[in-house]
Formats: sequence, C-alpha cells, structure tokens
Amino acid sequence: MRIKDTAAVRLTELGVEVRRGVSLADETSLGIGGTTDELLLRQYETIPDVMRLLADEHIPHRFLGGGTNVLIADGELPWVILHLPVAHPGMRVEGNAAYVDGSADLGGMVTFCAKYDLGGMEGLIGVPGSVGGALRMNAGAYGTQIGPHVREVELYRAATGKIETLCGTDIRFDYRHTSFAPEDVMLRVKLELPSKPYKEILAGIKVCNEKRRSSQPLNQKSAGCIFKNPQGGSAGKMIDELGLKGHRVGDAMVSNRHANFFVNTGHATYSDMLKLIGEVRDRVRDAYGMELENEVIVWRN
Ligand code: EPU
Repeated sequence: MRIKDTAAVRLTELGVEVRRGVSLADETSLGIGGTTDELLLRQYETIPDVMRLLADEHIPHRFLGGGTNVLIADGELPWVILHLPVAHPGMRVEGNAAYVDGSADLGGMVTFCAKYDLGGMEGLIGVPGSVGGALRMNAGAYGTQIGPHVREVELYRAATGKIETLCGTDIRFDYRHTSFAPEDVMLRVKLELPSKPYKEILAGIKVCNEKRRSSQPLNQKSAGCIFKNPQGGSAGKMIDELGLKGHRVGDAMVSNRHANFFVNTGHATYSDMLKLIGEVRDRVRDAYGMELENEVIVWRN
C-alpha cells in the first residue's frame, strides 16, 4: 500500500520516517513477504498522534517487530508497516533492574545484562528477534521465559490510544501467549533479574548455544518453530516420527535438523509455506488426533 504524499508529509512532521516500497522479504527471517510502505517511528511520544492520523486517513497498518516469527503474504500488501528503528536502542541497569527499549535485540539484551552480573535469561540467548516481540509472545527456551522477569512495560495501548505503563502483575504471560492486544506497541520494559557472576552466566549461555546449534537449523531461513507444542507433547517429535523431515512444497521444506522448523531453501513463496503448514497439520491430525496451533503469526493480504 502506498501512502498519499499529503499524509506522508504530516507523518514526517510527527518525526516518522516514511520508506517507500519496502520488500518485507528483506525484513523477515523467513525471507518471504510482499511490498508496502514502511513507517519508522523514531519519536515514541508522537505515536498516539501517528495512530490517530492513520485512523483519520483510513490507512490500514500492522506493527512489525524483529520479523522472526511471522509469515507474510506476497505481492503488494494492503497495509503499511510500522516499525521501531533499531540503531541505538536504550539499555541501562540500576541494581537488579534492567531498562530496555522494545526495539533492542533480545540476545544483545541478555549479554548486556550479563556484563552487569545480571542473569536468569541465559536460555533466551539464541532466540532471534526484538525485546518487544519477545514480550508480546512471551518468548522462551531452555526453561527460561521472559514473562516472569517483567516488572513494568511502557507501551502504546490501542484500547486507550495512549502511551501507558503496565505493571508486570497486570499482564498475563502464558506459554507463547500474553494478554497484550495485537495492536499494542511495546516501547520499553523494566526487568528484574537475579545477580549472578558474569563467568557463570557466560557458561550458561555457552551450553544453550551448543544445544541450539546441535538441534536447530540456525544457518537457514526460518521463523523458528512453526507450531506451538501441544500440552505434554512435542510438535517437532511428532512431525519427525511421521517421516516428514525434508518434505517440501516448492522451496518450503520441513528442516532435516528440527522437524518443527520449516525453512525457505531458496525462493519459497507465501503459498508454498502455507501449503506446507497445512499438509503437516493434516498429517499430524490424522496420525495423532491432535490439532497443532501455529506459533508463527500469519499475515494474509
Ligand atoms: N525432536 C525430535 N525430532 C525433531 C525435533 C525434536 O525427535 O526433529 C525431539 C527431541 O529429541 C526432544 C523433543 O523432541 O526429545 C523436544 O525437542 P527440543 O528440545 O528441540 O524442543 P522443542 O519442544 O521442539 C522447544 C521450543 C523451542 C526452543 C526449544 C528449546 C516450542 C514450540 N519450541 O522446542 O522454541 O528453542 O524448546 O527450549 O515451544 C520457538 O519457539 O520458535 C522455538 C524454536
């Protein structure tokens, strides 16, 4: 979708950088996605005004975080993308509290806090994406989830149209799911982290990195796990048991390394990936009587 020049001028006055005709295939870890205009929200304070302007001008929009857990339709997209710039995200530590911008890289935050002897997040080290994205979906790995560490979140709340601060206790963090609304924009978070010697944290990080390297296709284009694990089970294990590793639709393929990772081996399209997801879901339902739920977020056009 292309924004009219008149609206673009008003957005620029609000401190927004308007990027024309951006390919979202370049902004997602799957390397799939069509083209649209992108708005970089450089001044958090003006976000409510920006949102009002988009509503007044009837400009549909979606917020893209790190782009690591999303499958986006191909072609010209019917909505613009909102994105927080990542150049110099704020991160600071005071005692056991860490204050981090939503646009910061999740792994970068873990190592930053480690330097101040703050640990507890070692498991999150290799999870790709932004801190904002991790908050939204309560990212987790190797027994760690971000949710329990959250004390405050500053966010643009779609329900009120304002920037607000929520207490950690007012937010529900479940397995890969939270009580945030899809339109909320995570701006900053305050985490409380346990003190731990730097060396110990590094050792923990090393173990997690090794586990991840040996079990996940880190050098291929993917969106991490495609399906959530069903209660008490493992989607990857079931898909593997069905012999579906290497199964493909076009250039979309079930990873040979981890069966819950679907990789783009070249020029996979949105429909290839969607078809593969559907086929695997059908096979698991037929064999195990279980309905797998997407972990990857699908943006249809
Ligand atoms: N397994 C197989 N074959 C496979 C994949 C896994 O047999 O192809 C088996 C493993 O051998 C193991 C079990 O399934 O016995 C569980 O596998 P793994 O330890 O890899 O964990 P997972 O449940 O598949 C979850 C998260 C990952 C996270 C890892 C490590 C979900 C959907 N996935 O995977 O998160 O990195 O644990 O904690 O919860 C993600 O969310 O995108 C993600 C990658």
